[in-house]
Amino acid sequence: MKPTPSRPVAEALAQVWGWHRTPRFLEYVAESFGVCVQDCAEFDRLYVYQVADGDIERGEFDHWSTFQWWEVDDAGVRECSRPEQLLGWRDAPEKVRGSFYRWPHISFLHREERVGFGECYGPGLLNRKVGRLVEVAGGVQAVDVRLVWASRHDGCQRQAKGGEPVSQTGPLIENISDTARWAAVYRARENDRPDALFRDPLARRLAGARGEQIARGMPDSDRHTWAWVARTYLFDQFIAGQVQRGVDTVVNLAAGLDARPYRMALPSSLRWVEVDLPELLTYKEEILGGEKPVCALERVRLDLANVSARRDLFRRLGDEARKVLVITEGLLIYLSREEVGALAQDLAQPPSFQNWALDLASPGLLQRLQQAMGAKLNQGGATMKFGPEEGPDFFTSYGWKPVEVRALLKTAARLKRLPFLLRLVALLPASNGRQGSRPWGGVCLMARQ
Ligand SMILES: C[S@@+](CC[C@H](N)C(=O)[O-])C[C@H]1O[C@@H](n2cnc3c(N)ncnc32)[C@H](O)[C@@H]1O
Repeated sequence: MKPTPSRPVAEALAQVWGWHRTPRFLEYVAESFGVCVQDCAEFDRLYVYQVADGDIERGEFDHWSTFQWWEVDDAGVRECSRPEQLLGWRDAPEKVRGSFYRWPHISFLHREERVGFGECYGPGLLNRKVGRLVEVAGGVQAVDVRLVWASRHDGCQRQAKGGEPVSQTGPLIENISDTARWAAVYRARENDRPDALFRDPLARRLAGARGEQIARGMPDSDRHTWAWVARTYLFDQFIAGQVQRGVDTVVNLAAGLDARPYRMALPSSLRWVEVDLPELLTYKEEILGGEKPVCALERVRLDLANVSARRDLFRRLGDEARKVLVITEGLLIYLSREEVGALAQDLAQPPSFQNWALDLASPGLLQRLQQAMGAKLNQGGATMKFGPEEGPDFFTSYGWKPVEVRALLKTAARLKRLPFLLRLVALLPASNGRQGSRPWGGVCLMARQ
């Protein structure tokens, strides 16, 4: 049943949380959202919204069922539409563009005398509080607040009394799926540019504050934006080209937080299958629940390291399709040479699996990436391992031949996205074969042999 919008609760929450730049609230924001306290001075507005559905006891909210927003500032509380739809934020300085800054918000679910509340962009979306409402003169107060924090990794529930802030301590990258949040940040940043090469309006929400935290915590993260953008751009190009050539199914392995089925111009008849680890896909669905893909989207929760399960999946998808394009974007680098070979072999089995778009690093690039970021990635078990000597020809032993190879550097130069020194490097002649110690990264379109 749809609860009635409860403005008194929105007002009470705005007060209860002492949102207006009090040191305690700033500390809470900093700890919960992984942002710097000094940046918080920028924010002068809070959004509170009520969701229509969820489970108060478990602290779960169905954010796609949002039915009322309020905007809170010095002038008080007033009804508004979703802040994403408001204008003006594009002019904000970069540092205040994080998702929480843009729309700092608290969600709540109001059921009889209980109110549950939480933050849409809190760590893992699982930082939730449950409280009881009491009526006081002039409004409502939430009391007896318990904070429920469920770890994203082991599902354990911890509880604290009194709504004290809970910090997410631990490594920057906690597991391989955190790399998906990291990747989504670059798509979100591209989306914000007036001259964006692609638009991905969902990326910011998908990356969340954790994604921003990761991107900021990675060494030289801003210097390599061009490579992330060129990679996405090239995959988009290959996908669009293959769809034009009659692909009826796209199988995106390790899809992460990719939102192509929502953002690309694809035929509605196209079948698009996303495969990733269960936890990541659950998180993704929680964010995207209310959004509509343009094509026929399915998600398969699968650990691709499970060889018999993945072979079953490939066989089933292969039988059901006429012409399949497989995508692995940002996956192979985390696998060993043997694992990539075995995956390539499995992908070559179903006759309808005709093409495969993948990204590749040279041994030289792999080494540089390991030196720069290895320590942070290794902590979360996301070790970068794959950069074959043979380049794209590595795959010929496994049933795949390269038909189009595009270097990230040359692509970024063409798109005018390189910093000055790299523009000079990009002028040098380059080959797409063996690169040895040259730092080379590219996207390749493979065809079955
Ligand atoms: C760097 S992210 C790339 C995500 C997405 N393709 C993109 O480009 O934004 C790597 C992805 O691989 C997924 N992944 C890694 N190992 C996996 C496995 N064994 N089975 C399924 N997915 C896996 C992670 O969960 C994560 O989403």
